[in-house]
This record gives sequence, structure tokens and C-alpha cells, in this order.
Amino acid sequence: MSESESRFEALKRYVGFTATDELELAALQGPAAAGVESLLDEFYEEIDRHESARAVFTDPEVQRPRLRGTLVQWVAALLKGPYDADYAERVEAIGHAHVRVSLPQQYMLTAMNIVRRWLNDLCFETHGDDLARVRRALKAVDRILDIELATMLGTYRDDLVSRMQRQERLATIGELSAGIHHELKNPLAAIGASAFTLSERRAVRADPRANEMLGTIQSNVDKSTEIIGDLLSFTRLKEPVVAATPADQLVDRAAARVRMPRGYRLTIDLDPELPPVRADAAQIEQVLVNLLENAVEACGSRGRIRVLGRRMNGSVQLSVHDNGEGIEAVELRRVFEPLFSTRPDGVGLGLSLSRHLVHANTGEIALTSERGEGTTATVTLPL
Ligand code: HEM
Repeated sequence: MSESESRFEALKRYVGFTATDELELAALQGPAAAGVESLLDEFYEEIDRHESARAVFTDPEVQRPRLRGTLVQWVAALLKGPYDADYAERVEAIGHAHVRVSLPQQYMLTAMNIVRRWLNDLCFETHGDDLARVRRALKAVDRILDIELATMLGTYRDDLVSRMQRQERLATIGELSAGIHHELKNPLAAIGASAFTLSERRAVRADPRANEMLGTIQSNVDKSTEIIGDLLSFTRLKEPVVAATPADQLVDRAAARVRMPRGYRLTIDLDPELPPVRADAAQIEQVLVNLLENAVEACGSRGRIRVLGRRMNGSVQLSVHDNGEGIEAVELRRVFEPLFSTRPDGVGLGLSLSRHLVHANTGEIALTSERGEGTTATVTLPL
């Protein structure tokens, strides 16, 4: 049983949600579908009363009608169930979506109360004078809404806590890397310059072994400079310049920047109807380059890498799959930590930097992996 499903099952037991409740909720489906527009009107009136709630919609003309449609589906699923693992995941996804749009938590409480009052009225209208039945229906409504609210707020809290922890860690890395950069910049430049001067000497030029060693020195100086540069980029991340960007262009440009070794095959499989995403093109292209490079590193001799793109509800998902060894579950939990790498020669910055960039673009990034089957990195970006 997945973590989200077991949390959801525990909540069901806690509020005493039973098969009778499921039947009572199912009986409200028809009346709810017929009257859902009035709920939505009230929902939006409440949002419009608060400036900071309104401000959550960064692109109101697109998002408001879209959320209206999503809410109609949500009400239908709320009454229909089945209240299983998929259901639990969908509710958690709403919590994640709200963190993504920075919805202040208190608005969830008032919004859920509007839903509760509307459903309560529906219980009275549907069951008329049968008070015992009304009471059963009211209880079922209370239980399912308590489960929904607790799940959404739980995800919300988890996301916020981990986001704050990440910010703290990034701030520490930022300070540390600024210090490292300051201390190592000159010594590295001196090593590079000395290697160059030596390489110009006639005696050295005539000695292939010495030349080779100087080449090694120079390439290691370059690598060290690059690592310090990557570390510094954590402190110098620019605000994203968000614009509607065709997702296929992002994928094509990133793919053109990554060299596939001999014997490797890259397949790009994008939904032809893929809408543009709202993102900073350069930043997301960089993320995709990082993910493709990771995929190349992860594969053995016959690398098979697939990029998939599909439209989700209000977002686009781009995923990069490799057929490498896969990552152990214990390591998978840490892959986004700065300076953590599953490769002995890895520095551990690519994925954490990628996550930073994706979050700055109000997206999500996740990694799943099966031992022996490979790894899939998925980036979800808003429309
Ligand atoms: C009962 C309370 C609420 C429910 C059940 C709910 C449900 C949802 C659902 C199902 C989604 C789509 C999630 C996804 O993409 O996976 C969503 C997204 C969103 N919600 Fe809520 N929501 C609630 C309250 C609110 C409130 C009070 C606000 C604003 C003040 C809000 C603003 C948004 C925004 C801006 C999005 C992203 C919409 C988009 O870009 O498509 N929600 N919500």
C-alpha cells in the first residue's frame, strides 16, 4: 500500500467513514450535478471578496474557467468515489497544486465551508421530511469533507516544511560556495596559467607524456572551475522570465545540446496537441539538459532514452526515461539534496539545481525508479 493510500485509509477509519456513507453520498450525485453552478458562483464570490485570494490566480482569464471545470469534476468524484488509492492521490495532488500557486491555507477552510453548507442544503432538499435519512446524509458529507480537508492540508504542510528546509540548506550552500569561490578562484587560475606556460616550452612540447599530463591538469582545472560555477549559480539564480513557450521546442533544443554516445537511442514522443507551457524557456531547457545528461550517465552500453510529453489537467508533463540500472529506494529519497550523488564521480548539483529552477517556475519535479528497469524524471509545468 502506498504512503498516501495508508494515510488516507487511516483518516477514513478515524472519521468512521463506512459503506453506508458511500451510499448516502452516491444518492446526492444527481441533485449535485444539477445544482453545481450555484456552488461555483458562491465559491468565486467568496474568493473575489479577498484581494489576496484573488491574487492567487496569476493568469485569471485562463485559470478561473479552468478551475471551474476542475471543481465540477471534483464534486462529482467526491460523491461517486471509489475512495481508493487513486482517489487518495488525486486529493493529495490538489494540496500540491495549492502550494504551487501559494494559496494561503485559511482560504481552504472558508472554501470547504461553502461546499459543506451547499451539500447540507442538498441533503435537506433531496430527502425532504425523512429526518433520519437527512441526518445520515449530513454525517456522510461531514466525514468525506473532513477527510478531504485533512488530506489537502496535510500535503500542504508537508510541502511547505520541506520547501523551507530546502531554502535553509540552499542558503547555507550559497554562503559556503561564495567562500569557496573566493578562496579557490586565484589558485585555480594560477595552476591553469602555469600549465599553459609550461605547455609553451619547447622541451615540454617535444615530450608527449609531459603534454598529456599538462592536458590532464588543464581539464581538471576546467572541471573544478565548472563545479564552483555551478555551486555559485545557486546563489545567483535569476527570477524566471515567464512566457508561453511551446513544450516541443524546449525538448528539441535540450535534446540538441546533449551528445548521445554510440549505440544509444533517443526517442521523443510528444502529444501532438501539446499546449505551450508558462515558463522561462532558458531555465526549463537547462533542466531538460540536466535530466537528459543524467539519463545518458545512468545507461549501460545500449542506452535507450525516451522523452514523453503529455497534457494533464492544467499542466504539461515532460518525462525523461532511461533504461539504466535504476536507483535504490533509500537513495531515491535523497537525489534532490544538494551535493548528493549516486555516481562516485558525481558532484550532486544537477538535480537539486533542476528542482530549484522548476519550483521557481511554479512547477513540480519527481523521480521514480525501478531496480533493473531504469529511472524516470518527470517535470510538471503550468499552462
Ligand atoms: C474546497 C476547496 C478547494 C478545492 C476542492 C479545490 C480544488 C482544486 C483542484 C481539483 C485543483 C486542480 C489540481 C491539479 O491541477 O491537480 C485546484 C487548483 C487550483 N486551485 Fe483550488 N480548490 C479549493 C480551494 C481553492 C481556493 C479557495 C482558491 C483560491 C483562492 C484556489 C485556487 C486554485 C488555483 C489558482 C489552482 C490552479 C488552477 C490552474 O492553474 O488550473 N483553490 N484546486
